[in-house]
Amino acid sequence: MFTNKLILSPMVRVGCLPFRLVCLKYGADLAYAEEVIGQRLCEAIPVKNDGLGTMDFLDPDGCLCFRTCDEEKDKVVFQMGVSDAETAVKTAQIIQPYVAAIDVNMGCPKSYSIKGNMGAALLTQPELVKDILTSLVNVCTIPVTCKIRILQDEADTLALCQLIESTGVSALTVHGRTRYTTSRQPCDYEIISKIKKLLKIPVILNGASLDVKNEVDMRRMMSETGVDGVMLARAAWSNPSVFRKEGPLPIKEVVTQYMKYCITYEVPLHILKYTIVKFKGIFKDDDNHFPISRYITCNEVYKFFGLEEFYENLKGSRPENAQTTYQKNKRVKLSDPTHVVLTCEWTPEILQSFRQAVAPLQMLNQWFDVNGVCTQKFSVSEHNRTFTGFLKIDGETFVTDGPFKNKKMARQAVAYAYMIKHNIEIRYYKRSCNSLVKDANQKIKCTDENCPKRVKS
Ligand code: FNR
Repeated sequence: MFTNKLILSPMVRVGCLPFRLVCLKYGADLAYAEEVIGQRLCEAIPVKNDGLGTMDFLDPDGCLCFRTCDEEKDKVVFQMGVSDAETAVKTAQIIQPYVAAIDVNMGCPKSYSIKGNMGAALLTQPELVKDILTSLVNVCTIPVTCKIRILQDEADTLALCQLIESTGVSALTVHGRTRYTTSRQPCDYEIISKIKKLLKIPVILNGASLDVKNEVDMRRMMSETGVDGVMLARAAWSNPSVFRKEGPLPIKEVVTQYMKYCITYEVPLHILKYTIVKFKGIFKDDDNHFPISRYITCNEVYKFFGLEEFYENLKGSRPENAQTTYQKNKRVKLSDPTHVVLTCEWTPEILQSFRQAVAPLQMLNQWFDVNGVCTQKFSVSEHNRTFTGFLKIDGETFVTDGPFKNKKMARQAVAYAYMIKHNIEIRYYKRSCNSLVKDANQKIKCTDENCPKRVKS
């Protein structure tokens, strides 16, 4: 199952069902799903969704935790984030009837993983690694794999890989960077090659997106390093047809296919936009990705890609109660009738565009000032270390459809979404400068030629 394979790497948010399907359609042999925290899956409610033809796992509050379907059953690998063997086993027992293999994430360097003693935190705890993997191998009827990053010391890395092999796992994926190396730094292919030589189980190379443009590059990498497979994340995100034997397809064709899967499997707007803004070349013909960022309903995005008819046909052919049943990929309870949900993507890219300018929250407060509003109150709620922004104003509460990774992002998001919803002009004011211009071209401008802090457009 893991020999001579081109594989989609797990990616949180991006790697949901439609993205996996589009990569599989365009030549990936296997698709690793986005990491799901084991405990979360254990608490989820399994639901067979006949309307969509999917198997869903829903959080107790109705949020979608994991969705899969028969089309990918033999090719999808479920990746879990865990910190103990007992939870790992429970998770595996729940999910194994629906997937082709199970993977343990031992590479995530993000603080929420490390704090939870998951991901890369496991790399320096060989006994725990052994306990988790051995327990999984003992109970699983499908292959178990694990994905690691390398350690700073080569001998330690090799010893860890041998220990992992001794647990009976079916394959090992090695990301050729340490938990402290940034994703722009080079991937260490040499150590991966050494690991391959040392182990008998299949070794999959990961971390090569900066050096891969097509299937030929992946095959070359396999023969140069001797590995059994190449697993791609960012290159697949840029163009999911990167796996295609005949070479990648034009991005417009790929995005249309991806969108069709999104419509079919009801992907929420924030995931959809988050994913497509990174498709390389997608906005070449259009000015930039801002038109998309401003859309606040899925329909607007479907229209942008000329897929209204596809959507309408599909909607018409579905049982009435199936259309929006499990659409809430949200961490906030939206059932409160006083809450107005603002669906608006607030990405790091958009935040970046305000880098030298006044950020939305401040801008909106200025607007409230000018318009005599003084009842506004921004707040943030926390759930599982993710954050949702609220804006209470004149008895109405607006919430964003995040969640966001920190309080600042959540606050800015709700301000940005509110401005878009109410057509409040977004201007790019320079910080501590009140001479400003409209954003006709989304450029930061200042009208005051003499302003020493003028932001260059
Ligand atoms: C990741 N990565 C990742 N890894 C993992 O084991 N589980 C996960 O859920 C995620 N999530 C995730 C999200 C996003 C947006 C990115 C870009 C990456 C890491 C990823 O799978 C891979 O190991 C690295 O990106 C290196 O591979 P590439 O990008 O060089 O092919």
